[in-house]
Amino acid sequence: MRDALGEVQSVLVLGGGSDIGRALCRRLVEGRCGTVVLAGRPEDDMESVAAELRPMGARVELRHWDATDVASHRKVIGEVFEQFDDIDLVFAPAGILGDQAAFEADPEFAAAAIDINFAGLVSAALVVADHLQRQGHGALVFMSSVAGVRARKDNFVYGSSKAGLDAFAQGLGDRLVGTGVRVMVVRPGFVRTKMTEGMDAAPFSTTAEAVAERIVGGLAKGSEVVWAPPLLGPLFLVMGLLPRRLWRRVSDRA
Ligand SMILES: NC(=O)c1ccc[n+]([C@@H]2O[C@H](COP(=O)([O-])OP(=O)(O)OC[C@H]3O[C@@H](n4cnc5c(N)ncnc54)[C@H](OP(=O)(O)O)[C@@H]3O)[C@@H](O)[C@H]2O)c1
Repeated sequence: MRDALGEVQSVLVLGGGSDIGRALCRRLVEGRCGTVVLAGRPEDDMESVAAELRPMGARVELRHWDATDVASHRKVIGEVFEQFDDIDLVFAPAGILGDQAAFEADPEFAAAAIDINFAGLVSAALVVADHLQRQGHGALVFMSSVAGVRARKDNFVYGSSKAGLDAFAQGLGDRLVGTGVRVMVVRPGFVRTKMTEGMDAAPFSTTAEAVAERIVGGLAKGSEVVWAPPLLGPLFLVMGLLPRRLWRRVSDRA
């Protein structure tokens, strides 16, 4: 249960080795969060995240969870809610960026990316939403992206997975109004993490720590959508209005 100051005391991370997840957990544990459940694949970086958080005083548990193994989601997530009486926050950063040229060369890879970034999170989030409703409180935070706000020709497979997730999260959030459960969508631009390692930073690039700060701030304010950095909100309002021909030219240079 969030404490009297509204601070998160327990978190479940779906995609436990994520760099943004790591930064968020650090930020939460520096506050009042004492319980962290990292759920992810065995090859994920969860052990190193746990090794950072435990000396900070948190109880950290690891669970095997694969976004694409949708048949296991009820069991894996159900066991977490059964073991921990209260989960205040479920953060879902699992995802892959992939590469547009590789997707076009290998349509199966493109479909696999959609399975991880969209279908897998839809399945997991519906299970989570059910448990949070029964609990009567909690927040579910999804990682969308500016790539999903307006599709670009050089990353439209990834972008479409985020557009689907973003729409799903907004609908779920509306569906849960009045239940005590909140949904927040995070729309970052380029974040310097292992996902973008070796890539040239796009304009308005940011850090995992800055995104974590935006998430904590958004949760405190009850925001439904946060952009990281905040300037991307008004910028993409304008970008969304550009005629396609102009958008193709602008997005070529992004
Ligand atoms: N970095 C950016 O510029 C940026 C911008 C906008 C949005 N985002 C979104 O923010 C989220 C977190 O990104 P990040 O920068 O923290 O990247 P990250 O460090 O690569 O985290 C993504 C995590 O997802 C996990 N994952 C991949 N496939 C999975 C599967 N099938 N089942 C379970 N977990 C799986 C990865 O585990 P493995 O290590 O095992 O692959 C990894 O730990 C992602 O959804 C990303 O799309 C990132």
